[in-house]
Amino acid sequence: MEQEQIGRLLVIGIGLIGGSFALALKAAGACREVIGVAPNAETCEQARRLGIVDRASTRLEEVLPELEPGDLVFVAVPTLAVESVFAQLKGALPNGVTATDAASVKGSVVVAAKKVWGRMPDFLVPGHPIAGSEKSGVTAARDDLYRDHRVILTPLPETDTSHLQLVELAWQAAGAEVLKMPVEEHDEVLAATSHLPHVIAFSLVDTLAHDAENENIFRYAAGGFRDFTRIASSDPVMWRDIMLANRDAILKAIDLYSLNLSSLRSAIASGDSAALMGVFTRAKAARDHFTKMLAKQAYSDSMQAQEITFIAQPAAKVTGKFRVPGDKSMSHRSIMLGSLAEGVTQVEGFLEGEDALATLQAFRDMGVVIEGPHDGRVIIHGVGMRGLKAPPGPLYLGNSGTSMRLLAGLLAGQDFDVTLTGDESLSKRPMNRVANPLREMGANIETGPEGRPPLLIKGGSQLAGVHYPLPMASAQVKSAVLLAGLYADGETSTVEPAPTRDHTERMLQGFGYVVERNGAKASVCGGGALAACRIDVPADISSAAFFMVAAAISPGSDIVLEHVGINPTRDGVISILRAMGADIELENAREVGGEPVADIRIRYAPLQGIRIPEDLVPLAIDEFPALFIAAACAEGETVLTGAEELRVKESDRIQAMANGLAALGVSARATPDGIVIQGTGEKNVFSGGTVDSLGDHRIAMAFAVASLRAKDTIRILHCANVATSFPNFAELATEAGLKLQLA
Ligand code: S3P
Repeated sequence: MEQEQIGRLLVIGIGLIGGSFALALKAAGACREVIGVAPNAETCEQARRLGIVDRASTRLEEVLPELEPGDLVFVAVPTLAVESVFAQLKGALPNGVTATDAASVKGSVVVAAKKVWGRMPDFLVPGHPIAGSEKSGVTAARDDLYRDHRVILTPLPETDTSHLQLVELAWQAAGAEVLKMPVEEHDEVLAATSHLPHVIAFSLVDTLAHDAENENIFRYAAGGFRDFTRIASSDPVMWRDIMLANRDAILKAIDLYSLNLSSLRSAIASGDSAALMGVFTRAKAARDHFTKMLAKQAYSDSMQAQEITFIAQPAAKVTGKFRVPGDKSMSHRSIMLGSLAEGVTQVEGFLEGEDALATLQAFRDMGVVIEGPHDGRVIIHGVGMRGLKAPPGPLYLGNSGTSMRLLAGLLAGQDFDVTLTGDESLSKRPMNRVANPLREMGANIETGPEGRPPLLIKGGSQLAGVHYPLPMASAQVKSAVLLAGLYADGETSTVEPAPTRDHTERMLQGFGYVVERNGAKASVCGGGALAACRIDVPADISSAAFFMVAAAISPGSDIVLEHVGINPTRDGVISILRAMGADIELENAREVGGEPVADIRIRYAPLQGIRIPEDLVPLAIDEFPALFIAAACAEGETVLTGAEELRVKESDRIQAMANGLAALGVSARATPDGIVIQGTGEKNVFSGGTVDSLGDHRIAMAFAVASLRAKDTIRILHCANVATSFPNFAELATEAGLKLQLA
């Protein structure tokens, strides 16, 4: 912020919280003067000596008349003392002065304010910094206590925006991230995430301390007890105050927890191992996700979406033998069908990327017990076609279009309501392509504006089979209709305008469900059942494509990609690269669990530009970002047409690639349904520079590969979503020979 946007800061209560706020604003040069008020003179003197305040007083009534419009009062006293401070402010606070507080419960602050002023004053902005320390008092104050922490403001309709803005500015100057939420929501969230854990920790230690054997218990208590009960040594007075101030929300949280604890008790009593596994696997997954969020490794924490930049320095060639992660499409489907099957399905080679994990989490949220993933192994305890339960809240599907579209079909015929949401990119993607045919089948689905997410699917619709000719070549639409068909009366069939990936059809058959296939037509009859099976997910050809292109464009390269799925509906990248002159051999071709698999060997050979046959487009739909890099390195022009679907992927891939190529000095012209790229065949095709992946994993990886023919460093922005499909891309790429760093 600009200097001194706040006039004077008056801090009432100069302990850790108030003192740190004062120090932070002083360090930022954000206010003209800091005045402190504390009940005893010793604290005032210390605060002055430590440079926390410019001056201090024990008498609030003395300093209040000095304040002027633009000044800020920060009430940093214990929760239950807030009311008496408000009583002193009443009538004595000059007009135009802003006030805020830092109490951990906001409902009680509002009640206190209304009691004192008779209404909520427009200058009072309730706030709660989510930061603290086990130390307390004026000597513990630090200017960085709030840096990179969150502060929650809970303005009311009565709150004046100029006062709100001043408080926001002040917290931003202190380095905090400002969030806003309603008072009740704040108190409920804090009751669940902070107050309830303190109740449980205090009560557990108290329970054990009362035990006659407590000495032994504490003597033998190991790390688990220590970790779990650390917060039971927090300040009892403060916590008593919080319990009293946030009574209703805390009671609600305790009741919910008691219910869960007693059903866990019953599960233990009756030896219900499935119920125990359900609670434990769900809890472990949630805790692991939280750990990743804390380490800033989870992309799906929308509150603090992390930024990753790839810095790719020019590299010469790629060599070695690699197995890229499991196929994304098959990983999604293995969870979906395994969950609906009778019996236990074992999956090997599962892709532990964020997209497939979003599907996995969705089914956990619908009550399916899923063990793992651990080194690509997942064990799914199927619940049968009618065994899913209503999830506790909306299903968040992150970046994953496949999850949302296939789930829409699969959930259209359930007897519960469900809402599907996603991240910023997914929230822009068209969903009517699935919602419309599902509505034709009798589903009750609402979308957001212009057919975008969220999707609200009402339960209890009896679906009827349809015959649906797909308006576009989309495996997701085909799959959504066929999966809904499992729940529909009679036959449901799809006809596709061009072959698209057929993993749904193949995997349904693998689970023993009859799928009639006749040319472009696929049909199922509703009312059948799925039988659990074993699934071996091959490596994803879409991930392998980056290494194929890497080897194809860099002289001296020789690479083997093991156990790659080469399903004929997915192998367009091989055909296109070969047509351009690439040297590709398929070794050790075999069939694994109904899917063709091979090891793919690629050695460098000079490439030529081609006109890409339109019938190959759906068979290589996800590989075009990588193929455009190959086209830029080829000699002559490459022309792609009939690929308008690329404009509605995780980003508009035609525009994103055209922009990126142009930024690196390649002549590329986007067309409505494709692109024209002029390959020069030069050694250093790419100039180096900065490109924006727009958060699209495949754009990010494609430009990383371009560094093999770059003159200078390529910086690629917004790469965190590489974790959606290829979490260990940077490691494997580096092992193969790329010079890739993450920043
Ligand atoms: C997928 C189908 C394709 C593909 C996506 C995965 C699938 O999407 O781009 O990455 O698993 O069914 P469309 O069906 O939209 O072409």
